[in-house]
Amino acid sequence: MNILVTGGAGFIGSNFIYYMLEKHPSYRIVCLDLLTYAGNISTLEKAMKNNNFRFVKGDITDKDLVFKLFREEKFDVVVNFAAESHVDRSIDNPELFLKTNILGTQILMDASIKYNVKRYHQVSTDEVYGDLPLDRTDLFFTEGTPIQTSSPYSASKASADLLVQAYYRTYKLPITISRCSNNYGPYQFPEKLIPLIISRALNDEPLPVYGKGENIRDWIYVEEHSEAIDLIINNGKVGEVYNIGGHNEKTNLEVVETIIDELGKSKELITFVSDRPGHDLRYAIDPTKIRNELGWEPKIRFNEGIKMTIKWYLDNQEWWEDIISGEYMNYYDKMYGDRKIISDNIKEVAIEEMATEKDG
Ligand code: NAD
Ligand code: DAU
Repeated sequence: MNILVTGGAGFIGSNFIYYMLEKHPSYRIVCLDLLTYAGNISTLEKAMKNNNFRFVKGDITDKDLVFKLFREEKFDVVVNFAAESHVDRSIDNPELFLKTNILGTQILMDASIKYNVKRYHQVSTDEVYGDLPLDRTDLFFTEGTPIQTSSPYSASKASADLLVQAYYRTYKLPITISRCSNNYGPYQFPEKLIPLIISRALNDEPLPVYGKGENIRDWIYVEEHSEAIDLIINNGKVGEVYNIGGHNEKTNLEVVETIIDELGKSKELITFVSDRPGHDLRYAIDPTKIRNELGWEPKIRFNEGIKMTIKWYLDNQEWWEDIISGEYMNYYDKMYGDRKIISDNIKEVAIEEMATEKDG
């Protein structure tokens, strides 16, 4: 089996590559990655030593390069992880998200049709379903939940999903789509909540929490996402969507406080800052379909996974220190410099809000 993994120098793609090389030693894996700010070649250092692995630096929106690679490699399976993936960046600059996430998907699918790929798998996200209310914990995203997006990022991912479904119907491209909840684990870029909080807490820096920290995410340890995608590309039904995640819901404040406790740091570091525009309230996956059809279910509880993740960041300090010492510092200043500090005390936030409501 010859598999193309796009975006494999990023967080989930690299974890998937390591999972597949170990689980299926006979598979050949080719990684196509542009090495944007989010891609890191050092992440793939160990994979480079494997004869069944090849790395190609390139852009999924570069039609000539993509078609040449498909002609050369005759892929059986394509797994498309490559994307601009950070919601805050999409709010700041949507254009690149549309180009990479939508046009890149189209070019990969055109090449898949031309070179007879047996399975095109699109790695999508639960964010295409919008959000659920905080006070309706009985509601979950199923594969039938209507698409309703909030950010330019989620709109670009949803657009790509619709295009993938159109290619299935119109051109009979054998596709599958997975929509996963929030991942955490090794090699996640420290702009996302969990690695951001771990790295900043280790340096005793203020920990930015948007709004009141009450938004809920459904966390999944990254290895379990890889396991689910492996099952889908091997046993999933062509044309189908599979939700991945399940019942590991935490408020952002709970996540931040857990990390602080694990690291023995002070809660004083928590700083409530102005909210993300359009901030989705709650994500929660119903994984019934993938459990019934493919026998997959998450086993790693958040309290266990977060310990493994923190240990990884402690053991691999060089990896993330290199990242946050460079261009990333400019990003942090730009993105957070403008955010108003609401308060470093949640009670004060509530009081401030009550006062505003009264005034209004
Ligand atoms: P990431 O930002 O860590 O990695 C993205 C990778 O794509 C990087 O290596 C980057 O260099 C590469 N890339 C970007 N533009 C490219 C282009 N034009 N051509 C080739 N490569 C390009 O992202 P991630 O968190 O690993 O997410 C991977 C995929 O999974 C994305 O499609 C994302 O939408 C989806 N997803 C992520 C999560 C999550 O919690 N992180 C959850 C569900 C789904
Ligand atoms: O649900 C899947 C999605 O999860 C993926 O599709 C995205 O690619 C991935 O980035 C992630 O999106 P989120 O927006 O949920 O992840 P992020 O880590 O950016 O934020 C998680 C929550 O924490 C969210 O409610 C916003 C909040 N947050 C985030 C940052 C960066 C803060 O409170 N402070 C912060 O500094």
